[in-house]
Amino acid sequence: MKNLNIGLVGYGFMGRTHSNAFRSVGNFFDLPYRPVLKTVAARNSGRGAAFAAQWGFEKSVTDWREMVESPKIDLVDIASPNDTHAEIAIAAAKAGKMVMCEKPLGRNAGESEAMVAAVESAGVPNMVWYNYRRVPAVTLAKQLIDEGRLGRIFHYRAKFLQDWTISSDLPQGGEGLWRLDVNVAGSGVTGDLLAHTIDTAMWLNGSIQEVSAVTETFIKSRKHNLTGNVEPVGIDDASLFLARFSNGSLATFEATRYARGHKALYTFEINGEHASIMWDLHDLHRLQYFDHGDESQVRGWRSLHITDSDHPYMSHWWVPGLQIGYEHTFIHQVADFLQAVGEGKSASPTFREGLATDDVTDAVLESAAKRSWVTVRDRADVKKEAI
Ligand SMILES: NC(=O)c1ccc[n+]([C@@H]2O[C@H](COP(=O)([O-])OP(=O)(O)OC[C@H]3O[C@@H](n4cnc5c(N)ncnc54)[C@H](O)[C@@H]3O)[C@@H](O)[C@H]2O)c1
Repeated sequence: MKNLNIGLVGYGFMGRTHSNAFRSVGNFFDLPYRPVLKTVAARNSGRGAAFAAQWGFEKSVTDWREMVESPKIDLVDIASPNDTHAEIAIAAAKAGKMVMCEKPLGRNAGESEAMVAAVESAGVPNMVWYNYRRVPAVTLAKQLIDEGRLGRIFHYRAKFLQDWTISSDLPQGGEGLWRLDVNVAGSGVTGDLLAHTIDTAMWLNGSIQEVSAVTETFIKSRKHNLTGNVEPVGIDDASLFLARFSNGSLATFEATRYARGHKALYTFEINGEHASIMWDLHDLHRLQYFDHGDESQVRGWRSLHITDSDHPYMSHWWVPGLQIGYEHTFIHQVADFLQAVGEGKSASPTFREGLATDDVTDAVLESAAKRSWVTVRDRADVKKEAI
Protein backbone atom coordinates (compact mmCIF):
# COMPACT_ATOMS: atom_id res chain seq x y z
CA MET A 1 0.00 0.00 0.00
CA LYS A 2 1.41 3.38 -1.04
CA ASN A 3 1.14 6.61 0.92
CA LEU A 4 -0.94 9.40 -0.64
CA ASN A 5 -0.13 12.80 0.83
CA ILE A 6 -3.17 15.01 1.30
CA GLY A 7 -3.23 18.81 1.30
CA LEU A 8 -6.56 20.21 2.53
CA VAL A 9 -7.82 23.76 1.93
CA GLY A 10 -10.38 24.97 4.51
CA TYR A 11 -11.02 23.62 7.96
CA GLY A 12 -14.73 24.35 8.41
CA PHE A 13 -17.70 21.99 8.17
CA MET A 14 -16.43 20.12 5.11
CA GLY A 15 -12.78 20.27 6.21
CA ARG A 16 -13.88 18.18 9.19
CA THR A 17 -15.96 15.66 7.21
CA HIS A 18 -13.11 15.15 4.73
CA SER A 19 -10.41 14.85 7.41
CA ASN A 20 -12.54 12.29 9.23
CA ALA A 21 -12.98 10.34 5.99
CA PHE A 22 -9.26 10.30 5.17
CA ARG A 23 -8.44 9.19 8.71
CA SER A 24 -11.06 6.43 8.90
CA VAL A 25 -11.19 4.95 5.42
CA GLY A 26 -8.23 2.59 5.81
CA ASN A 27 -9.81 0.98 8.87
CA PHE A 28 -12.81 -0.21 6.89
CA PHE A 29 -11.70 -0.60 3.25
CA ASP A 30 -8.75 -2.44 1.69
CA LEU A 31 -7.27 0.15 -0.64
CA PRO A 32 -4.21 0.61 -2.83
CA TYR A 33 -3.37 3.91 -1.06
CA ARG A 34 -3.06 5.06 2.54
CA PRO A 35 -4.09 8.74 2.91
CA VAL A 36 -1.58 10.75 4.94
CA LEU A 37 -2.85 14.03 6.41
CA LYS A 38 0.14 16.13 5.43
CA THR A 39 -0.88 19.81 5.34
CA VAL A 40 -3.92 21.99 5.97
CA ALA A 41 -4.05 25.48 4.43
CA ALA A 42 -5.81 28.05 6.63
CA ARG A 43 -5.46 31.83 6.53
CA ASN A 44 -5.42 32.14 10.32
CA SER A 45 -2.20 30.49 11.51
CA GLY A 46 -3.34 29.89 15.12
CA ARG A 47 -6.61 28.25 14.12
CA GLY A 48 -4.89 26.31 11.33
CA ALA A 49 -2.31 24.94 13.78
CA ALA A 50 -5.05 23.98 16.27
CA PHE A 51 -7.01 22.17 13.53
CA ALA A 52 -3.85 20.38 12.36
CA ALA A 53 -3.15 19.20 15.91
CA GLN A 54 -6.72 18.05 16.52
CA TRP A 55 -7.10 16.12 13.26
CA GLY A 56 -3.55 14.82 12.92
CA PHE A 57 -2.17 16.91 10.04
CA GLU A 58 1.62 17.17 10.07
CA LYS A 59 1.50 20.93 9.59
CA SER A 60 -0.55 23.98 8.60
CA VAL A 61 0.30 26.79 6.19
CA THR A 62 -1.38 30.18 5.75
CA ASP A 63 -1.27 30.27 1.93
CA TRP A 64 -2.74 27.40 -0.11
CA ARG A 65 -0.26 28.22 -2.92
CA GLU A 66 2.64 27.03 -0.79
CA MET A 67 0.85 23.71 -0.28
CA VAL A 68 -0.17 23.32 -3.93
CA GLU A 69 3.41 23.89 -5.09
CA SER A 70 4.96 21.51 -2.53
CA PRO A 71 6.40 18.33 -4.11
CA LYS A 72 5.36 16.51 -0.92
CA ILE A 73 1.65 16.87 -1.73
CA ASP A 74 -0.04 14.31 -4.04
CA LEU A 75 -3.68 15.35 -3.72
CA VAL A 76 -5.23 18.77 -3.16
CA ASP A 77 -8.64 18.66 -1.47
CA ILE A 78 -10.67 21.88 -1.75
CA ALA A 79 -13.14 22.42 1.13
CA SER A 80 -13.22 26.22 1.10
CA PRO A 81 -16.00 28.57 -0.12
CA ASN A 82 -17.14 28.50 -3.74
CA ASP A 83 -15.20 31.57 -4.93
CA THR A 84 -11.91 29.80 -4.17
CA HIS A 85 -12.60 26.54 -6.05
CA ALA A 86 -11.57 27.47 -9.60
CA GLU A 87 -8.30 29.22 -8.81
CA ILE A 88 -7.08 26.50 -6.44
CA ALA A 89 -8.20 23.57 -8.62
CA ILE A 90 -6.59 25.01 -11.74
CA ALA A 91 -3.31 25.73 -9.90
CA ALA A 92 -3.34 22.23 -8.38
CA ALA A 93 -3.94 20.55 -11.75
CA LYS A 94 -1.16 22.60 -13.34
CA ALA A 95 1.14 21.43 -10.53
CA GLY A 96 0.22 17.83 -11.45
CA LYS A 97 -1.79 17.11 -8.29
CA MET A 98 -4.92 14.99 -8.04
CA VAL A 99 -7.83 17.27 -7.15
CA MET A 100 -10.93 16.69 -5.07
CA CYS A 101 -13.27 19.67 -4.92
CA GLU A 102 -16.38 20.48 -2.93
CA LYS A 103 -19.62 21.23 -4.73
CA PRO A 104 -20.72 23.25 -6.57
CA LEU A 105 -17.66 22.81 -8.77
CA GLY A 106 -17.58 26.48 -9.84
CA ARG A 107 -19.76 29.51 -9.10
CA ASN A 108 -21.08 29.04 -12.63
CA ALA A 109 -20.49 26.77 -15.61
CA GLY A 110 -17.87 29.15 -17.04
CA GLU A 111 -15.62 28.60 -14.02
CA SER A 112 -16.31 24.88 -14.05
CA GLU A 113 -15.42 24.64 -17.73
CA ALA A 114 -11.96 26.07 -17.02
CA MET A 115 -11.57 23.60 -14.14
CA VAL A 116 -12.50 20.65 -16.37
CA ALA A 117 -10.01 21.84 -18.99
CA ALA A 118 -7.26 22.09 -16.34
CA VAL A 119 -7.69 18.58 -14.88
CA GLU A 120 -8.27 16.92 -18.25
CA SER A 121 -5.28 18.53 -19.94
CA ALA A 122 -3.09 17.70 -16.93
CA GLY A 123 -4.52 14.15 -16.90
CA VAL A 124 -4.96 14.16 -13.12
CA PRO A 125 -7.61 12.14 -11.23
CA ASN A 126 -10.42 14.41 -10.07
CA MET A 127 -13.71 14.21 -8.22
CA VAL A 128 -16.48 16.49 -6.90
CA TRP A 129 -17.83 15.83 -3.41
CA TYR A 130 -21.48 15.13 -4.26
CA ASN A 131 -21.58 12.80 -1.29
CA TYR A 132 -25.28 11.89 -1.31
CA ARG A 133 -24.66 9.38 -4.11
CA ARG A 134 -22.79 7.32 -1.52
CA VAL A 135 -25.63 6.97 0.98
CA PRO A 136 -26.13 3.19 0.73
CA ALA A 137 -29.91 3.62 0.25
CA VAL A 138 -29.30 6.05 -2.64
CA THR A 139 -26.73 3.74 -4.21
CA LEU A 140 -29.27 0.92 -3.91
CA ALA A 141 -31.86 3.10 -5.68
CA LYS A 142 -29.35 3.47 -8.52
CA GLN A 143 -28.89 -0.32 -8.69
CA LEU A 144 -32.65 -0.98 -8.72
CA ILE A 145 -33.15 1.53 -11.54
CA ASP A 146 -30.22 0.16 -13.56
CA GLU A 147 -31.61 -3.37 -13.16
CA GLY A 148 -34.78 -2.11 -14.84
CA ARG A 149 -37.02 -2.79 -11.84
CA LEU A 150 -38.85 0.53 -12.21
CA GLY A 151 -39.22 0.17 -15.96
CA ARG A 152 -39.92 3.35 -17.85
CA ILE A 153 -39.57 6.38 -15.53
CA PHE A 154 -42.41 8.92 -15.61
CA HIS A 155 -41.75 11.25 -12.69
CA TYR A 156 -38.84 12.55 -10.60
CA ARG A 157 -39.63 14.76 -7.59
CA ALA A 158 -36.95 16.32 -5.39
CA LYS A 159 -36.81 18.89 -2.64
CA PHE A 160 -34.18 20.25 -0.28
CA LEU A 161 -35.61 22.40 2.50
CA GLN A 162 -33.92 24.43 5.23
CA ASP A 163 -35.00 27.32 7.48
CA TRP A 164 -31.84 29.02 8.76
CA THR A 165 -31.96 32.37 6.90
CA ILE A 166 -35.52 33.48 7.72
CA SER A 167 -34.48 36.24 10.16
CA SER A 168 -34.00 39.63 8.48
CA ASP A 169 -31.41 40.44 11.21
CA LEU A 170 -29.05 37.78 9.85
CA PRO A 171 -26.13 39.54 8.11
CA GLN A 172 -24.54 38.41 4.86
CA GLY A 173 -20.90 37.68 4.08
CA GLY A 174 -17.83 36.69 6.05
CA GLU A 175 -17.17 33.63 8.12
CA GLY A 176 -20.09 31.24 8.34
CA LEU A 177 -22.33 33.51 6.25
CA TRP A 178 -20.51 33.54 2.91
CA ARG A 179 -23.43 31.54 1.44
CA LEU A 180 -25.54 34.73 1.54
CA ASP A 181 -22.94 36.75 -0.40
CA VAL A 182 -23.51 36.19 -4.11
CA ASN A 183 -19.96 37.18 -5.05
CA VAL A 184 -18.60 34.33 -2.93
CA ALA A 185 -21.35 31.72 -3.34
CA GLY A 186 -22.22 32.36 -7.01
CA SER A 187 -25.93 31.85 -6.29
CA GLY A 188 -28.18 30.98 -3.37
CA VAL A 189 -30.04 27.74 -2.90
CA THR A 190 -29.72 26.95 -6.62
CA GLY A 191 -25.98 26.27 -6.44
CA ASP A 192 -26.01 25.20 -2.80
CA LEU A 193 -28.99 22.85 -2.38
CA LEU A 194 -30.49 22.24 -5.84
CA ALA A 195 -27.00 21.28 -7.07
CA HIS A 196 -27.13 18.24 -4.78
CA THR A 197 -30.60 17.25 -5.98
CA ILE A 198 -29.59 17.72 -9.64
CA ASP A 199 -26.42 15.64 -9.29
CA THR A 200 -28.37 12.77 -7.71
CA ALA A 201 -31.19 13.09 -10.25
CA MET A 202 -28.92 12.96 -13.30
CA TRP A 203 -27.03 10.03 -11.81
CA LEU A 204 -30.27 8.11 -11.25
CA ASN A 205 -32.35 9.23 -14.22
CA GLY A 206 -30.01 10.63 -16.89
CA SER A 207 -29.52 14.10 -18.31
CA ILE A 208 -31.93 17.03 -18.02
CA GLN A 209 -33.01 18.57 -21.32
CA GLU A 210 -34.92 21.73 -20.39
CA VAL A 211 -36.06 23.68 -17.35
CA SER A 212 -38.59 26.31 -16.35
CA ALA A 213 -37.76 28.01 -13.07
CA VAL A 214 -38.90 30.59 -10.56
CA THR A 215 -36.65 32.06 -7.87
CA GLU A 216 -37.25 34.56 -5.09
CA THR A 217 -35.14 36.64 -2.73
CA PHE A 218 -37.42 37.21 0.24
CA ILE A 219 -35.08 39.51 2.20
CA LYS A 220 -33.80 42.09 -0.28
CA SER A 221 -31.01 43.72 1.76
CA ARG A 222 -28.86 42.66 4.69
CA LYS A 223 -25.93 44.13 6.58
CA HIS A 224 -22.65 42.89 5.08
CA ASN A 225 -20.24 41.57 7.68
CA LEU A 226 -17.14 42.67 5.78
CA THR A 227 -18.18 46.24 4.87
CA GLY A 228 -20.54 46.96 7.79
CA ASN A 229 -23.02 48.46 5.28
CA VAL A 230 -26.56 47.34 4.47
CA GLU A 231 -26.25 45.94 0.94
CA PRO A 232 -28.59 44.35 -1.60
CA VAL A 233 -28.89 40.56 -1.35
CA GLY A 234 -27.88 38.94 -4.65
CA ILE A 235 -28.66 35.31 -3.88
CA ASP A 236 -31.87 33.37 -4.50
CA ASP A 237 -33.50 32.39 -1.18
CA ALA A 238 -35.83 29.89 -2.87
CA SER A 239 -35.64 28.20 -6.25
CA LEU A 240 -38.18 25.90 -7.88
CA PHE A 241 -38.14 24.40 -11.34
CA LEU A 242 -39.95 22.07 -13.68
CA ALA A 243 -37.78 19.84 -15.86
CA ARG A 244 -37.93 17.41 -18.72
CA PHE A 245 -35.31 14.64 -18.70
CA SER A 246 -33.83 13.28 -21.93
CA ASN A 247 -35.64 9.96 -21.24
CA GLY A 248 -38.97 11.82 -21.45
CA SER A 249 -39.77 11.82 -17.73
CA LEU A 250 -41.01 14.99 -16.02
CA ALA A 251 -39.67 16.48 -12.81
CA THR A 252 -40.18 19.04 -10.10
CA PHE A 253 -37.33 20.38 -7.96
CA GLU A 254 -37.62 22.74 -5.00
CA ALA A 255 -35.05 24.25 -2.64
CA THR A 256 -35.46 26.94 0.00
CA ARG A 257 -33.96 28.22 3.23
CA TYR A 258 -37.40 29.53 4.28
CA ALA A 259 -39.26 26.29 5.14
CA ARG A 260 -39.75 26.77 8.87
CA GLY A 261 -39.17 23.54 10.74
CA HIS A 262 -36.91 21.90 8.16
CA LYS A 263 -33.15 21.74 8.72
CA ALA A 264 -31.95 19.57 5.84
CA LEU A 265 -34.98 17.82 4.39
CA TYR A 266 -33.57 16.37 1.18
CA THR A 267 -36.06 13.95 -0.36
CA PHE A 268 -36.65 12.43 -3.76
CA GLU A 269 -39.35 10.22 -5.26
CA ILE A 270 -39.22 8.38 -8.56
CA ASN A 271 -42.29 6.85 -10.19
CA GLY A 272 -41.76 4.19 -12.82
CA GLU A 273 -44.01 1.89 -14.81
CA HIS A 274 -43.47 -1.10 -12.50
CA ALA A 275 -42.26 0.39 -9.23
CA SER A 276 -41.61 3.57 -7.25
CA ILE A 277 -38.88 4.68 -4.86
CA MET A 278 -38.78 7.33 -2.12
CA TRP A 279 -35.81 8.49 -0.05
CA ASP A 280 -35.47 11.00 2.80
CA LEU A 281 -32.18 12.32 4.20
CA HIS A 282 -33.70 12.55 7.70
CA ASP A 283 -34.16 8.77 7.55
CA LEU A 284 -31.18 8.12 5.31
CA HIS A 285 -30.73 4.43 6.11
CA ARG A 286 -34.19 3.57 4.73
CA LEU A 287 -35.45 3.26 1.16
CA GLN A 288 -39.19 3.20 0.50
CA TYR A 289 -40.03 0.83 -2.33
CA PHE A 290 -43.34 -0.04 -3.99
CA ASP A 291 -43.43 -2.92 -6.46
CA HIS A 292 -46.59 -3.25 -8.54
CA GLY A 293 -45.54 -6.85 -9.32
CA ASP A 294 -46.24 -7.92 -5.70
CA GLU A 295 -49.27 -10.10 -4.99
CA SER A 296 -52.15 -7.61 -4.73
CA GLN A 297 -53.32 -8.60 -1.22
CA VAL A 298 -49.93 -7.77 0.30
CA ARG A 299 -48.88 -5.07 -2.15
CA GLY A 300 -47.79 -1.81 -0.54
CA TRP A 301 -44.89 0.48 0.24
CA ARG A 302 -41.99 -1.42 1.80
CA SER A 303 -39.63 0.38 4.15
CA LEU A 304 -36.28 -1.25 3.46
CA HIS A 305 -33.72 -0.96 6.24
CA ILE A 306 -30.45 -0.64 4.36
CA THR A 307 -28.11 -2.38 6.78
CA ASP A 308 -27.59 -5.87 5.37
CA SER A 309 -24.22 -6.96 4.07
CA ASP A 310 -25.59 -7.33 0.53
CA HIS A 311 -26.60 -3.65 0.53
CA PRO A 312 -24.11 -1.22 -1.06
CA TYR A 313 -21.04 -0.51 1.14
CA MET A 314 -22.60 -2.23 4.18
CA SER A 315 -20.32 -5.28 4.22
CA HIS A 316 -17.56 -2.86 5.30
CA TRP A 317 -19.42 -1.79 8.43
CA TRP A 318 -21.12 -3.47 11.38
CA VAL A 319 -23.56 -6.37 11.55
CA PRO A 320 -26.99 -6.44 9.84
CA GLY A 321 -29.54 -4.20 11.55
CA LEU A 322 -27.00 -1.58 12.66
CA GLN A 323 -27.20 1.58 10.62
CA ILE A 324 -24.57 4.10 9.54
CA GLY A 325 -24.94 7.84 8.93
CA TYR A 326 -23.92 11.07 7.23
CA GLU A 327 -20.14 10.95 7.79
CA HIS A 328 -19.94 7.54 6.13
CA THR A 329 -20.93 9.01 2.75
CA PHE A 330 -17.62 10.89 2.72
CA ILE A 331 -15.69 7.78 3.75
CA HIS A 332 -17.32 5.86 0.88
CA GLN A 333 -16.41 8.64 -1.53
CA VAL A 334 -12.74 8.55 -0.48
CA ALA A 335 -12.74 4.74 -0.72
CA ASP A 336 -14.12 4.85 -4.27
CA PHE A 337 -11.70 7.60 -5.25
CA LEU A 338 -8.62 5.74 -3.96
CA GLN A 339 -9.80 2.51 -5.59
CA ALA A 340 -10.23 4.34 -8.90
CA VAL A 341 -6.81 6.01 -8.62
CA GLY A 342 -5.33 2.56 -8.07
CA GLU A 343 -6.87 1.58 -11.40
CA GLY A 344 -5.56 4.76 -13.08
CA LYS A 345 -9.01 6.38 -13.29
CA SER A 346 -11.09 9.17 -11.76
CA ALA A 347 -14.07 8.36 -9.55
CA SER A 348 -17.54 9.59 -10.37
CA PRO A 349 -18.67 12.34 -10.13
CA THR A 350 -15.73 13.76 -12.04
CA PHE A 351 -15.21 17.47 -12.70
CA ARG A 352 -16.91 16.90 -16.06
CA GLU A 353 -19.99 15.56 -14.26
CA GLY A 354 -19.82 18.51 -11.85
CA LEU A 355 -19.86 20.80 -14.88
CA ALA A 356 -23.03 19.08 -16.14
CA THR A 357 -24.75 19.99 -12.86
CA ASP A 358 -23.55 23.59 -13.19
CA ASP A 359 -24.99 23.68 -16.73
CA VAL A 360 -28.39 22.85 -15.20
CA THR A 361 -28.10 25.39 -12.35
CA ASP A 362 -27.06 28.06 -14.87
CA ALA A 363 -30.12 27.17 -16.99
CA VAL A 364 -32.34 27.37 -13.87
CA LEU A 365 -31.11 30.88 -13.05
CA GLU A 366 -31.41 31.97 -16.68
CA SER A 367 -34.96 30.59 -16.91
CA ALA A 368 -36.01 32.38 -13.72
CA ALA A 369 -34.53 35.66 -14.99
CA LYS A 370 -36.16 35.34 -18.43
CA ARG A 371 -39.44 33.82 -17.13
CA SER A 372 -39.28 31.20 -19.88
CA TRP A 373 -38.19 27.61 -20.60
CA VAL A 374 -34.42 27.23 -21.18
CA THR A 375 -32.68 24.33 -22.93
CA VAL A 376 -29.78 22.95 -20.90
CA ARG A 377 -26.45 23.10 -22.68
CA ASP A 378 -25.72 19.70 -24.22
CA ARG A 379 -22.03 18.88 -24.14
CA ALA A 380 -22.42 15.25 -25.19
CA ASP A 381 -20.80 15.94 -28.55
CA VAL A 382 -18.19 18.36 -27.27
CA LYS A 383 -14.78 16.78 -27.50
CA LYS A 384 -12.70 16.79 -24.35
CA GLU A 385 -10.07 19.08 -25.87
CA ALA A 386 -12.70 21.61 -26.88
CA ILE A 387 -13.67 22.56 -23.34
N1 LIG B 1 -20.98 18.03 0.11
C1 LIG B 1 -21.78 18.65 0.97
O1 LIG B 1 -22.80 18.13 1.39
C2 LIG B 1 -21.43 20.05 1.43
C3 LIG B 1 -21.93 20.52 2.66
C4 LIG B 1 -21.52 21.79 3.08
C5 LIG B 1 -20.67 22.55 2.30
N2 LIG B 1 -20.25 22.08 1.09
C6 LIG B 1 -19.33 22.86 0.26
O2 LIG B 1 -18.05 22.85 0.90
C7 LIG B 1 -17.39 24.11 0.74
C8 LIG B 1 -17.06 24.68 2.12
O3 LIG B 1 -18.27 24.80 2.87
P1 LIG B 1 -18.27 24.69 4.47
O4 LIG B 1 -19.67 24.50 4.90
O5 LIG B 1 -17.24 23.74 4.93
O6 LIG B 1 -17.82 26.18 4.83
P2 LIG B 1 -17.23 26.71 6.19
O7 LIG B 1 -17.54 28.18 6.20
O8 LIG B 1 -17.65 25.86 7.34
O9 LIG B 1 -15.66 26.50 6.02
C9 LIG B 1 -14.94 27.13 5.00
C10 LIG B 1 -13.47 27.11 5.38
O10 LIG B 1 -12.69 27.66 4.30
C11 LIG B 1 -11.72 28.54 4.86
N3 LIG B 1 -11.27 29.46 3.82
C12 LIG B 1 -11.94 30.43 3.18
N4 LIG B 1 -11.16 31.02 2.27
C13 LIG B 1 -9.97 30.39 2.32
C14 LIG B 1 -8.74 30.55 1.63
N5 LIG B 1 -8.58 31.50 0.69
N6 LIG B 1 -7.69 29.73 1.95
C15 LIG B 1 -7.85 28.78 2.90
N7 LIG B 1 -8.99 28.59 3.59
C16 LIG B 1 -10.03 29.38 3.30
C17 LIG B 1 -12.45 29.17 6.04
O11 LIG B 1 -11.56 29.76 6.95
C18 LIG B 1 -13.15 27.94 6.61
O12 LIG B 1 -12.26 27.18 7.41
C19 LIG B 1 -18.36 24.98 -0.07
O13 LIG B 1 -18.00 24.92 -1.42
C20 LIG B 1 -19.71 24.32 0.15
O14 LIG B 1 -20.62 24.54 -0.92
C21 LIG B 1 -20.61 20.84 0.67
